[in-house]
Formats: sequence, C-alpha cells, structure tokens
Amino acid sequence: MNTILSNNIVEVRKLVKEQKKEGHKIALVPTMGALHAGHASLIKKAKEIADFVVVSVFVNPIQFGPNEDFDKYPRNMDKDKKLCEELGVNVIFAPSPKEMYGENSSLNNNELTYVCPPYNVVDCLCGKSRVGHFDGVATVVMKLFNIVQPDFACFGQKDAQQLFIIKKMVKDLNLDIEIVPCPIVREEDGLALSSRNAYLSEQERQQAISISKSLFYIKGLFERGISDVSILFDSAISVLDKNLNLEYLEFRNYSNFEKVNNASEGTLVAIAVKDGNTRLIDNVIL
Ligand code: PAJ
Repeated sequence: MNTILSNNIVEVRKLVKEQKKEGHKIALVPTMGALHAGHASLIKKAKEIADFVVVSVFVNPIQFGPNEDFDKYPRNMDKDKKLCEELGVNVIFAPSPKEMYGENSSLNNNELTYVCPPYNVVDCLCGKSRVGHFDGVATVVMKLFNIVQPDFACFGQKDAQQLFIIKKMVKDLNLDIEIVPCPIVREEDGLALSSRNAYLSEQERQQAISISKSLFYIKGLFERGISDVSILFDSAISVLDKNLNLEYLEFRNYSNFEKVNNASEGTLVAIAVKDGNTRLIDNVIL
C-alpha cells in the first residue's frame, strides 16, 4: 500500500478534493503520533467506514502547558509510517508547527483565533490541572477538520473528556462531520495503551496496573447494586497502588458532564494519576 506522507496543507486539501470528486467518503484519524494498537484500532475503524483514510500526526504545541512534556513527547515518524502503510492509510498529514500556526506556535498564543469550548466541560477533570489544554485541542481539531473536511472522524473513548468536547464542538458549530467513538484498547493486564506509557519505569509500569483495576472494581460493585458514589470512590481508592498520586477520580453524567452522587447506567468514571512523573488517565462507563 502506497501511503502518501505530506506536511503541506494545500497538498492534502488537493488529495482529498480529488477523492471527493470521485464520490469517495473520507475519514480522518487525528493523532499525535507514536502510534500504538489504540491508534491502530481507530485507523481500522476508519478503513471500515470510509474509502479514503487520512491520519494526522501532529504534536500540537498549543495543547501543552509550559511545564508539560511537549519537547520530550515521543516522536517516531518512520515507525508510524510503517504502521500506517500496513493498515492501508492513504495519507499521513504531518505538518510542522509553522505550517499549522505560522511563527507563533505556543500555548497562550495571542495571535491565534481559538475555539473555546464552554467552561463547565473544560474546567474540570483534566482541564483543571491542564489549563488551556482543551482550547488547544478544540482549536487544532477544528483546523484539521477544515483542512481535511472529512465525512467521519474517529476518536478514542480513552480520552473521554476530549471526545465529549469534540462532539459538543461539532454540534454547537454545526459541523457536517460524524464523530465515531472507538473503545479503549488495553494491555493484557488492563493498562490502557498510551504513548506516555513509554515513560514508565518497570516499577511504575507495575503500579499502573491498579488504575484500571480500580475502575473495573467500581464497575463490578455497581453491577452488584452499589450506586452510592462515596462508597464506590472509597472502594476504588483501596485498590489503587499507594505509590500513585491521585489527581482525580470522578463520576459524571456522560450526557451533560455534571457530577453525580449516585451512579447509574451510562455514568462516566474517570481517573487521572501521577505515576512517578508520568500523568496517566483512564475511564470506564458504567
Ligand atoms: P493522541 O493521544 O495521539 O490520541 C489520538 C487518538 O487515539 C485519540 O482519539 C485517543 O483517544 C485515541 N487513543 C489513544 N489511546 C487509545 C487507546 N488505548 N484506545 C483507544 N483509543 C486510544 O488525543 C490526541 O492525540 C490529541 O489530543 C489530538 C486529538 C490528536 C489533538 O491534538
């Protein structure tokens, strides 16, 4: 399979336009690269539903805070390209920050028009510690949507808050794009795949198993009739490795993102921890 690698907006637009003229359906899979089986599952889904698949690989500077891991975020285009070829991706769009933002490609970029999702969905969970993060995500995804103009865009349930925000943006801004949610891909021991898992030492990797364990424990208790959030919360904490630093463990209504005191079917249980210096997130839907 011949996968075209392009770092150029005009070129990608042209390639997509040619396909649309043929009546072909386009799917976009936005990523930051360092592709793993989680990303691959999104790409496979995209291949299933569309005729022409574009994968974007862009470590987006405006969604990283000043003390975050933008510089050390794993980048491996050769490996990513190989995987995309194997999966039959038609185009990899891998622009430079300059191609996307011009010269001023930093967070708090005063030169840029941003897409800012509403406070109640960005100022909680991951947005609380990552100020400006979801403005950066919504802005880059909107730009990618405008560049590629896909019929479908695939996003992982792994980033539940991101998925919620993108769906909301599509609805609020009347974008004619179907957002396709894809289930979380996990290691055999339950750890959700993430490009950041590469940062973990052996001990940290071992500790990380308890993250998904705590979520599955909650799910099990809920299925046995326990819905009181304070009980579910305390039970989960008892399972979580003591060396992990809990940032949040929250129960939210996944249709309006409000906190709930009583869990019900469809409740989102989301967790973020620091494992050493690495921030890991996971979630489960009850
Ligand atoms: P990134 O972390 O590379 O993730 C790209 C996509 O892969 C996201 O939709 C994410 O939810 C999905 N994904 C990651 N790990 C997964 C797993 N274990 N199972 C299923 N899906 C998984 O999310 C981003 O990049 C960026 O914020 C982006 C949307 C590209 C904007 O810059």
